[in-house]
Amino acid sequence: MKTVKDYIRTIPDFPHKGIMFRDVTTLFSDPRGFRIAVDQLLHPYTGTDIDRVAGLEARGFILGGAIAHQLSQGFVPIRKKGKLPGRTIEQSYSLEYGEATMEVHDDAFQPGERVLLVDDLLATGGTAEAGIKLIERLGAQVVGCAFVIDLPELGGRKRLEALGMDVHALCS
Ligand code: PRP
Ligand code: ADE
Repeated sequence: MKTVKDYIRTIPDFPHKGIMFRDVTTLFSDPRGFRIAVDQLLHPYTGTDIDRVAGLEARGFILGGAIAHQLSQGFVPIRKKGKLPGRTIEQSYSLEYGEATMEVHDDAFQPGERVLLVDDLLATGGTAEAGIKLIERLGAQVVGCAFVIDLPELGGRKRLEALGMDVHALCS
């Protein structure tokens, strides 16, 4: 029986020379692969109160949307700068390959809300940390950070755990 990892392919030298890009489109496009990924991302949070699901652009939208639907909760997109139409707050961060700024609508979370943060991949943790800061700046609480892939050599898990986060990944 194939595991989540078996559905992920690696594309060398994308988007830059030296990066081994872990491509989840092959996981998402397979009906069984997508279902087991969504189910396994949710599994550790069975019985946990979650008020809202937040997804990090771009592949966190696909996973987060499916997870929010499964939980019958709402979904909040955390987007790259300049994409959201309403009033936003922003947080800059550095990537394995570059720099970026994330934004969220400033009314996307209510104080005290319990949020599950979702993305496809944890590398340096810069993107997720920016998402966590945005959620916390709006007074909400991150109850878990769920990823399909953890690249442990890039230190993201340690970085998020140092912030007191519960980090869950399906494979590394
Ligand atoms: C990838 C991935 C995560 C992020 C992880 O997205 O989907 O969001 O990198 O890296 P980090 O842990 O070092 O921050 P990317 O920035 O390539 O953007 P994209 O989703 O728009 O392709
Ligand atoms: N984001 C940062 N590093 C990545 C990698 N190696 N594969 C896919 N997405 C990434």
